[in-house]
Amino acid sequence: MSPAIGIDDLAFATGSFRIDLAVLAARLGADPEKYYRGLGQSEMSVVAEDEDIVTMGAAAAQQILDRSGGAGVRTLMFATETGIDQSKAAGVYAHRLLGLGPNVRVVELKQACYSATAAMQFAVALVARDPSEKVLVIASDIARYQLDSAAEPTQGAGAVAFTVAANPALLELHPANGVYTDDVMDFWRPNHSTTAIVDGKSSITAYLDAVAGAFDDYLAHGGVPFEQIDRFCYHQPFTKMAVKAHRHLAARAGSELDPAALQAQIEPTMGYNRRIGNSYTASVYLALLALLDGDEDLTGKRVAIASYGSGAVAEFLTGTVADGYRAGLRRAENEERLTGRTPVDDAAYLALQRTAARPDPSNFETARQTPSPFRFGGVRQDQRVYEPTA
Ligand code: CAA
Repeated sequence: MSPAIGIDDLAFATGSFRIDLAVLAARLGADPEKYYRGLGQSEMSVVAEDEDIVTMGAAAAQQILDRSGGAGVRTLMFATETGIDQSKAAGVYAHRLLGLGPNVRVVELKQACYSATAAMQFAVALVARDPSEKVLVIASDIARYQLDSAAEPTQGAGAVAFTVAANPALLELHPANGVYTDDVMDFWRPNHSTTAIVDGKSSITAYLDAVAGAFDDYLAHGGVPFEQIDRFCYHQPFTKMAVKAHRHLAARAGSELDPAALQAQIEPTMGYNRRIGNSYTASVYLALLALLDGDEDLTGKRVAIASYGSGAVAEFLTGTVADGYRAGLRRAENEERLTGRTPVDDAAYLALQRTAARPDPSNFETARQTPSPFRFGGVRQDQRVYEPTA
């Protein structure tokens, strides 16, 4: 019998600063409750001058390698929509920082917030071909919108790293999956822009349509009915979006669960994203990590992953939480990672945001700020410089 394949280890990293959304509300003239309750967000991570998708992604992956080494890893896939180069994969920089050997293929994947899920499915196929292989997936993003826009409170920054392997310690993925694509302009970032362009209201509709389309396709491809799924991890651009999506799917599936029961199926997935903000590709896997790190024993439970990337692509799949999964978690460390961020006021946050838009992007140095194991030193003659911090 072929072995189960799925997520063997899962870790995250985020920006080293954070800002309470009440601080943004004061500048934007909004009631803080609009962000706390209306969007379901309490604060958001902000990156230091010398942090980017590579330093966050490598910091997440380092935790996995510290525990189990790189043995068996022959592929590193880097999922992001915060691309730093049109040609070279961000994962090649991470590969060096992590000290992975030369016999590893490295590639970058892009489709807005969705591409980490594509990476995971491609990884499953590689492991099915050779169950002795492990695939390292890194998903890392910085969400930036125009200052003073309605989207500003839905920014954030974060990365996850996970390994896909046979006989996984955390989540055994099921073969059934549903996919959906529709060419819509709800959110995109043209090459000339450092911030995304978004049609906020239509992005919500596009998300709901795509996730419902992926769920229908999941049912048509051997998926189990809605009632047989215990917990649901959604992409969370803001956590209230998961509430909207879950109610939408429940209504479509004709579920008889009351609103409180529906909320209980998603509430434990929101703890990290509520504090980190939107981390695009990493977001749905931060939802999974928050769920696994929670108080409830989930052994044997069926968990859904509903992945969405604007533009738009969605996928719906499920997995079973593995026996003994709790031994593979880093719950206390993860909490310290969040509480250890330095709070910034509006002036410091605005200064960081403005510094990110460089007048001369071909040549600059960054200030030493990050406590992460890796730092982005700047750009020298068009070449990005990364180095260990210590
Ligand atoms: N107290 C409590 N709640 C309040 C409130 C108050 N004082 N004032 C308003 N609210 C509620 C509103 O009722 C609303 O809740 P419901 O949607 O449940 O009715 C919520 O707060 C937000 O209010 P608005 O709709 O008025 O907010 P807005 O128009 O200012 O902006 C937004 C919201 C459109 C999401 C905007 O933040 C945005 O454009 N964000 C970026 C786009 C985005 O995240 N889209 C999500 C889907 S696309 C995707 O998922 C891909 C991705 O990662 C980007």
